Amino acid sequence: MASITVQSSQLLERVLSIEIVRVTERAAVSAARLRGHGKDKASDQAAVDAMRRELNKLPIDGTVVIGEGELDEAPMLFIGEKLGNKIGPKVDIAVDPLEGTVLCAKNMPGAIATLAIADEGTLLHAPDCYMDKIAIGPGYPKGVIDLDAPADENIMSLAKAKGVKPSEITAILLDRPRHAKAIEAIRRTGAAVSLITDGDVAGVIHTAEQKTGIDIYLGIGGAPEGVLAAAALRCIGGQMQCRLVIDSEELRERTLKMGIKDAKKKYEIADMVRGDCLFAATGVTTGAMLTGVKFEKDMILTDTVVMRSVTGTVRRITAEHRQLDKFHLD
Ligand code: FBP
Repeated sequence: MASITVQSSQLLERVLSIEIVRVTERAAVSAARLRGHGKDKASDQAAVDAMRRELNKLPIDGTVVIGEGELDEAPMLFIGEKLGNKIGPKVDIAVDPLEGTVLCAKNMPGAIATLAIADEGTLLHAPDCYMDKIAIGPGYPKGVIDLDAPADENIMSLAKAKGVKPSEITAILLDRPRHAKAIEAIRRTGAAVSLITDGDVAGVIHTAEQKTGIDIYLGIGGAPEGVLAAAALRCIGGQMQCRLVIDSEELRERTLKMGIKDAKKKYEIADMVRGDCLFAATGVTTGAMLTGVKFEKDMILTDTVVMRSVTGTVRRITAEHRQLDKFHLD
């Protein structure tokens, strides 16, 4: 008879994949209360407070490796902060309690609350700096994209691998002056450019979501966001290459202190997330990936995506929260 023994660590990991939904849900609800109020710092703080409170309830012995900043600049969810009830596995935690603070402040599409959890020592400890990134969804042979190749070459190579003309490729980039040349080069191939004002965790994930019609992410965004996006792609498939943008001596020293010896290293997904992980995101404002929080008379509605790399399972959890007193703290 086949044995179906589930190791306790696996069981816990399965339980955590549901428990972390509560964490991003609460952060999203807290931030959403301040949607459109023009207060980016206040909404971020609300999300931080809620996420920290919920993470502390989890059966983990966790350390924040991607957080709100170093201890001297962030009192909560700082890099190195210990979280969880300590009865459980040692894990690395990457958080972005409010990804798209300006999107939330202006009530624009695409703000999310997001986090990733992985075994201790397996997530890249990236400093809060920029990161050059390129990503595509699953189903392509390795080597189709190269961070060091010009943007137009990557489009041509991807079109060939997809078996379409470059004009049938859509690239997504943050709308920033630093991307002007790449945007021009991409358009010259005939490909379409989709510009986002913020929120490149979702931007990268869109490459793996057929419904978005996005084929490739290119450009420079935040390094913490890069690691979170890599965790999502580790779960659902795809390719990503990244390099930290180290542009000052101060940053070089900080990076060294975080254990990164080769500042120019080109990271693949497996270098940023070196083992299995869980990823979750809840919509704050409605975007292409998630519906934003809805406040009804008797309930609060949330929309969450949660992924588990062990199985590649992606769950969409639309929750109706009726015990509103539980949200009073938020
Ligand atoms: P915040 O939520 O921290 O404001 O980040 C939003 C964001 O758009 C990220 O998604 C992206 O990686 C980064 O900012 C880009 O940085 P910049 O706005 O400096 O170009």
